[in-house]
Amino acid sequence: MMQINKVHQIDVLAGLKKLPDNSIDCIVTSPPYWNLRDYNVEDQIGLEKNPEDFINKIVEIMKECKRVIKPTGTIWLNLGDSYFKKLGNSSKWLQAKQRLLIPFRVAIKCQDELGLILRNDISWIKQVWNYKTKESFGSSMPVGVNDRLNTTSESIFFFVKSKNYYFDLDAIRIPYRDKGGANPKGKNPGDCILFPLEPSREEHIAMFPKTLPEFCIKSGCPKNGIVLDPFMGSGTTAIVAKRLGRNFIGFEINKEYLKIIERRLSQESHN
Ligand SMILES: C[S@@+](CC[C@H](N)C(=O)[O-])C[C@H]1O[C@@H](n2cnc3c(N)ncnc32)[C@H](O)[C@@H]1O
Repeated sequence: MMQINKVHQIDVLAGLKKLPDNSIDCIVTSPPYWNLRDYNVEDQIGLEKNPEDFINKIVEIMKECKRVIKPTGTIWLNLGDSYFKKLGNSSKWLQAKQRLLIPFRVAIKCQDELGLILRNDISWIKQVWNYKTKESFGSSMPVGVNDRLNTTSESIFFFVKSKNYYFDLDAIRIPYRDKGGANPKGKNPGDCILFPLEPSREEHIAMFPKTLPEFCIKSGCPKNGIVLDPFMGSGTTAIVAKRLGRNFIGFEINKEYLKIIERRLSQESHN
């Protein structure tokens, strides 16, 4: 077993291969999205020439994720979509402007090829507005498109590998506004959740708001269990796991991000 409560500088698949079968309680992760950003390191995922290669790579990683989680384990995979940019139609699917549905193609392969059980496709809402009152909640990056709508939500797939798994719904229930709701512990939060983006001074461009891993870990990982994030980025999953009394283990390929992670984790210890 690799050292826990540590983020290792290693490629995601190489790291996963070092973990024993059935050893992890909960995986919370967000791989790079296809063709969106350059993380400035060799062997990074996301810059594959075509989306099929990217999809197959993520499925290969999910196969290892399935192997390393305990039979009671949970996997929370956040993946955003991409629009095809190349001009010149190479196929019906791969034509310019197409929304590629990459997250769903990955999820379907996880069901069909890996036998993972999809329990929820959670919509991570970044901004939502009430069309009637014109009120809005949350925020989103402005985009320069005017022939489609801005994309203000992403999927978080909640997968398990067996029918009996750890899930603490009480830990994430929403209190009723007025007393007298059906369950005194509160309401099932449903699968459309606004996790507002959090401003940060860190030099990482795609950080989770802390509320997102908090939600997954509180409900999907027992106290003292081990949370794995194989794409640790700036370390948000590790920080939240630590705050919640869980152990963590992480992989990240970019050594500049390792420095951010170490700094953030040591700030936690001093809080
Ligand atoms: C979307 S970010 C994760 C952000 C993270 N959730 C956070 O809160 O900061 C994806 C990360 O995957 C890393 N990455 C890309 N290819 C990798 C690989 N082959 N092995 C390990 N990490 C990789 C990138 O350097 C990047 O930091």
